[in-house]
Amino acid sequence: MLEKEDHKQDAAFNQAMHGKDSSGAQKLAVDEYSKYWDNKTAAKETEDIRAQRRTEYATLTRHYHNLSTDPYEYGWVQSFHFCRFSVGESFRRAIARHEHFLAHVTDIRENAVVLDVGCGVGGPAKEIAKFSGARVVGLNNNNYQIDRATLHWNGKAQMPLTEDSFDAVYAIEATVHAPALHSVYSEIFRVLKHKRYSQIRLHVEEGNGVSSMEKMSVNPQFNGDGSFEMLHHEDLAERPSSIHIWDFPTIFRITGLCRTIVHRFVGAMEALSLAPKGSQKAGDSMARGGDALVAGGREKLFTPICLIVRKKPSKTAEDLES
Ligand SMILES: C[S@@+](CC[C@H](N)C(=O)[O-])C[C@H]1O[C@@H](n2cnc3c(N)ncnc32)[C@H](O)[C@@H]1O
Repeated sequence: MLEKEDHKQDAAFNQAMHGKDSSGAQKLAVDEYSKYWDNKTAAKETEDIRAQRRTEYATLTRHYHNLSTDPYEYGWVQSFHFCRFSVGESFRRAIARHEHFLAHVTDIRENAVVLDVGCGVGGPAKEIAKFSGARVVGLNNNNYQIDRATLHWNGKAQMPLTEDSFDAVYAIEATVHAPALHSVYSEIFRVLKHKRYSQIRLHVEEGNGVSSMEKMSVNPQFNGDGSFEMLHHEDLAERPSSIHIWDFPTIFRITGLCRTIVHRFVGAMEALSLAPKGSQKAGDSMARGGDALVAGGREKLFTPICLIVRKKPSKTAEDLES
């Protein structure tokens, strides 16, 4: 059983610790933190001792961060993590490069809503928000760090977070504090959006006149439990293809500029009763479908050119006899 959360008590302790006369609270934090480690050598450590630390991990971690935040912030930077360095690279630049790299590999894009689990005082969140244009919300169980983060940047979240609410979730050197990784990942799973897939699917359906697309995995023949033999299955979009300069008219038709011109032109024709009512709406819907096809291809969620070759199995001599 983990200890119960007590936000009021944490907030009061934070005030005492970082208020005018903080010496009593400071000593208490040191004592509370030290009690988990003093006179506990590796040789004498038992499973019970470790179990107690796991049960009280929130207090242990909070006191650690109550004590370490100021030294980290003034002696390190507002990002409390490690990074790799290149020759001649400054410390701040290397830290920022690490954060940009993480944003890049997790594909954090402009306007995405992103959760930073265990956000410290917000250094990485601020940098990733600036780098990507995403809105980054920080989650932290340390009141003092939340106060510091609020001074530096204004993304702040209270638990519980709602289901399906984030486009991406990252944690930098924070999950290590959790007593069990499973619960952290199941929470992250809960708050991550399914949206990406559902939105792409909906727009592919809308823009291509499809009532309801099924996933490959629910296709019984594809799973091998139907009557067909699978001879070949391949996403032809994976094969190389090339575009030449003389394909310019085709490419131009799908650029934002051309689509805006067509959208306005069709709208004007419709207003002048030279095009049927609803033409612009139908065109917009197809354009959304086109974008969704591209997004689905990029994210490997959808392919319009999947080649499936199946064969009805030949009858065996036994089948013919029966
Ligand atoms: C090493 S620091 C890293 C901070 C931040 N990710 C960074 O790179 O600057 C670990 C962070 O995890 C937070 N943390 C630990 N346990 C937590 C919990 N149960 N809920 C939320 N935050 C937690 C700590 O308060 C601290 O901010």
